[in-house]
Amino acid sequence: KKIVLAYSGGLDTSIILKWLQQQYNAEVITFTADLGQGEELEPARKKAELLGVKQIYIDDLREEFVRDFVFPMFRANALYEGTYLLGTSIARPLIAKRLIEIAHEVGADAVAHGSTGKGNDQVRYELSAYALDPNIKVIAPWRIWDFKSRTDLIDFAEKNQIPVAKDKRGEAPFSVDANLLHSSSEGKVLEDPSQEPPPYVFMRTIAPEDAPDVATYIEIGFEKGDPVSINGVHMSPATLLTKLNEYGHDNGIGRLDLVENRYVGMKSRGIYETPGGTILLAAHRAIESLTLDREAAHLKDSIMPRYAELIYYGFWFAPEREMLQALIDKSQEHVEGTVRLKLYKGNTIVVGRSSPKSLYSDALVTFEDDRGAYDQKDAAGFIKLNALRLRTLAARKKLGDA
Ligand code: ARG
Ligand code: SIN
Repeated sequence: KKIVLAYSGGLDTSIILKWLQQQYNAEVITFTADLGQGEELEPARKKAELLGVKQIYIDDLREEFVRDFVFPMFRANALYEGTYLLGTSIARPLIAKRLIEIAHEVGADAVAHGSTGKGNDQVRYELSAYALDPNIKVIAPWRIWDFKSRTDLIDFAEKNQIPVAKDKRGEAPFSVDANLLHSSSEGKVLEDPSQEPPPYVFMRTIAPEDAPDVATYIEIGFEKGDPVSINGVHMSPATLLTKLNEYGHDNGIGRLDLVENRYVGMKSRGIYETPGGTILLAAHRAIESLTLDREAAHLKDSIMPRYAELIYYGFWFAPEREMLQALIDKSQEHVEGTVRLKLYKGNTIVVGRSSPKSLYSDALVTFEDDRGAYDQKDAAGFIKLNALRLRTLAARKKLGDA
């Protein structure tokens, strides 16, 4: 029996690894993804070797993550509940996809993950896994084992020669998930939503009040709705997002403190940092403002909350997400050009946009002489017919009042 485990190299997934080996008498194959979480991955390999793992997969998925998941999502300007840029949600389907590929490569019939039974991540992993392989078995140890507390887990680790860092002996301070798009922190000191998060929670942005007193200007170039360059220099998707993250970090951009509705029904409080993504969203909206037709723009905006909800709920590989994606991608055909931004103490301020595909017409909108581009007399009939219904309704109301 073989099980492929999504393995971070951390304490919890190391415990899961050992537990799976014992509980199922199985050969466990580990898979660790480099999604740009900024951690060394060699220690994860060492640890897996130490725990007797013979097949260890460590894959750099950064380009695929940004190109095939993050950028398509940003074409939609997706925000869950108005604020969350979905940094964790969008990474799960890619991890699940690779887990299934590896399961097929090594002939495993089960995959395992380290998400708890209380969260969204279990749903995202498993819906993605079943969408890609109807017969796969998924093992979620957190929903099965008898450990009741952190102390039980640590005891198990110590009994099984799993290295436990000194600071992990107490309660874990909070739960962190990170990738190239964002870092999230939940739990423990953050569980009281009335209390401001302590400064040490933030890991990839400086505080806005510590950011430079001088604004930083950058220019982002777009093609077909995706960012392709910064200040005229073309870059790969992951390189570009990495660069935007640096600008965001240095200017204190992309911090978010929110209470969100989890799919399983409870509310949770999270602290998110999405430096590059926050800049990208503002820039993308700006280039769309110039290049999208009004009704096209309003239509895609109207489906955005649904699209964001699908990603949050874990339905990336569902037909309804793919259908909405096709609509969004179609809208991006002419979304190209350059956006100029001013980054200043936590703010992303759009200060200019230009495009060879611009629909903006000086001649039409000018307050000066438009040389016959637009006949103001046309507006009278336009308003008159639009008012027809309203006048009919108003007349009935007047009759009723009489
Ligand atoms: N609440 C966020 C989401 O559902 C972040 C989850 C963070 N996951 C984690 N394993 N710490 O997308
Ligand atoms: C977890 O429960 O594993 C993390 C939180 C979440 O998935 O929402």
